[in-house]
Amino acid sequence: MSSERIVIAIDGPSGSGKSSTAKGVARALGLAYLDTGAMYRAVTCAYLDAGVDPSDQAGVIRETLAADLQISTDPDLEQVVVNGVEVTTRIREPEVSAKVSAVSTVAECRANLVARQRAIIEGAANGIVAEGRDITTVVAPDADVRLLLTADPEIRMARRKAELGDKVDASQLADQVLRRDADDSTLVNFTTAADGVTHLDCTYLNLDETIAAVLDLVASVRG
Ligand code: DC
Repeated sequence: MSSERIVIAIDGPSGSGKSSTAKGVARALGLAYLDTGAMYRAVTCAYLDAGVDPSDQAGVIRETLAADLQISTDPDLEQVVVNGVEVTTRIREPEVSAKVSAVSTVAECRANLVARQRAIIEGAANGIVAEGRDITTVVAPDADVRLLLTADPEIRMARRKAELGDKVDASQLADQVLRRDADDSTLVNFTTAADGVTHLDCTYLNLDETIAAVLDLVASVRG
């Protein structure tokens, strides 16, 4: 396989397994990794810490644009710092999951985060695997490999539950997976593959099988 720089874009709904898959692919190929959802989550911490209510759209936009955001692109080091505060663990908490849509459904916030994501992708010398909802279509439509990863809703909720453990009940899970997907699809389409995007349904694939399928796709593109 050639060692040319490569950009791999992976989109998909909550619980589709795209983060674990993207990290696994990055490790296998020695690439950087970008979790764009973590950026939406970090900015949510920033507006909450500034005392802004999610319903205050102007406030959310202001805090998003002003946020000093640093995110690790090492697939083996999860670290997110916003305005000098480490939020690596906090961004996964239910409060942040419940309030992140105030950022992700606002066009001005998206445009700001998309610009930051493009800069990170461009700066990755050896290449990168970037995952989110709009990477294949908006952030990196020219990526060498573009993939939409989906799974049936029941499986996605089961995967999220396995991740979050006993901390969440069934209604919180449905809120985190289904309501958020519905909110998020108001501005981006991540349920059907755009032109040139490969659709991989991993409902019946385990993580290793999913990573292997993506690596096969990368190999076929690289030739
Ligand atoms: O993938 P995740 O659950 O960590 O994403 C957090 C939120 O950010 C989720 O509501 C979807 C949104 N998001 C987005 O709108 N666009 C992205 N590229 C990544 C995440």
